[in-house]
Amino acid sequence: MKTLTVNLGARSYPIHIGQGLLRNTDLITQHISGRQVMVVTNETIAPLYLDSIMVLLDGFDRACAILPDGEQYKTLETLDSVFTGLLEHRFNRHCTLVALGGGVIGDITGFAAACYQRGVAFLQIPTTLLAQVDSSVGGKTGVNHPLGKNMIGAFHQPGCVVIDTDTLDTLDQRQLAAGLAEVIKYGLIHDAGFLTWLEQNIERLIARDKPSLAYAIERSCTIKAEIVADDERESGRRALLNLGHTFGHAIETGTGYGNWLHGEAIAAGMLMAADLSARHQWLARSDVDRIENLLRCAGLPVSPPDEMDESQFMELMAIDKKVVDGGLRLVLLKEIGGAVITGDFSAALLSQTLSRTARAP
Ligand SMILES: NC(=O)c1ccc[n+]([C@@H]2O[C@H](COP(=O)([O-])OP(=O)(O)OC[C@H]3O[C@@H](n4cnc5c(N)ncnc54)[C@H](O)[C@@H]3O)[C@@H](O)[C@H]2O)c1
Ligand SMILES: [Zn+2]
Repeated sequence: MKTLTVNLGARSYPIHIGQGLLRNTDLITQHISGRQVMVVTNETIAPLYLDSIMVLLDGFDRACAILPDGEQYKTLETLDSVFTGLLEHRFNRHCTLVALGGGVIGDITGFAAACYQRGVAFLQIPTTLLAQVDSSVGGKTGVNHPLGKNMIGAFHQPGCVVIDTDTLDTLDQRQLAAGLAEVIKYGLIHDAGFLTWLEQNIERLIARDKPSLAYAIERSCTIKAEIVADDERESGRRALLNLGHTFGHAIETGTGYGNWLHGEAIAAGMLMAADLSARHQWLARSDVDRIENLLRCAGLPVSPPDEMDESQFMELMAIDKKVVDGGLRLVLLKEIGGAVITGDFSAALLSQTLSRTARAP
């Protein structure tokens, strides 16, 4: 088992990564201070992993909330059902919530913990690759509003993150690939050496080789932990984690939530960001080809959906959260392993990227 730390002063917490961790009682119970514990999960994950967690919590005053599965249930209504469960069980402010699932469960549970009795403890047990490398770390929690994704939420850090890589055995291939998009993102924004490692090991990763996956998760969490420790509330550098996300969110919205997985949209979005960077001659065209090749090998899409045109992109990108005072800001690449957030890009070149104007030779 590897243990990393997210350094946030009094709110610091460990990330444990390894195989078979869901059988390790102490690992989880040492982070529970009161007697009352509620495990929040969904209908898909409960039959797979809920029993093992409930066994670990033997001796506590245990409860569970089994939510419907899907991004469409990441709502205030679902959140309210968690509060109802907590109140029905008469849980007090010393209770602990345990998020057992992917990013949807992690975001809802974290937000429930941030609000219930003005804030209670929670733990993350992420079970998708995306949640293990991204959403379980960093304390962003929340739900969607009909008018915008992730628009209602809070910063609330977990007490620990337990990543059992065995849970990936039951994840389907498409979800695994979607998680790899975020892994590739860390190499692109922060670590050229890691990107090279990913190029050399992509076959092993998609074949679910455990040591390779564990290393990719560890490296991703290390980078995320470092960035979060430096800029917890995203006043600067943390925004670099949004490489490809302004384009990607437009694809997710433009195609209707759920048709493109988040990681798939981010893959196409990162390539659009790389293309725009190359059109500014910040990035070599050969680097864009490298990124495209890696995403392709990971089984991810490398171009936006045919049906989306420039004007639809522009309209959807204007409502992204990264718009500050009316100006669109984008995360672009200055090199592999080096990203910037900037509003200082050419509108004409952006238009070429969005309309997929043939590249200059
Ligand atoms: N808080 C953050 O910093 C942050 C960062 C990135 C993404 N997110 C959020 O995360 C969500 C996406 O997360 P996701 O990709 O994990 O999606 P998800 O939570 O919807 O999980 C994907 C699917 O896999 C199933 N599943 C989960 N674990 C499984 C397992 N071990 N075996 C079999 N099936 C399993 C789920 O039930 C679901 O059907 C989005 O809502 C996004 O906004 C949050
Ligand atoms: Zn993302």
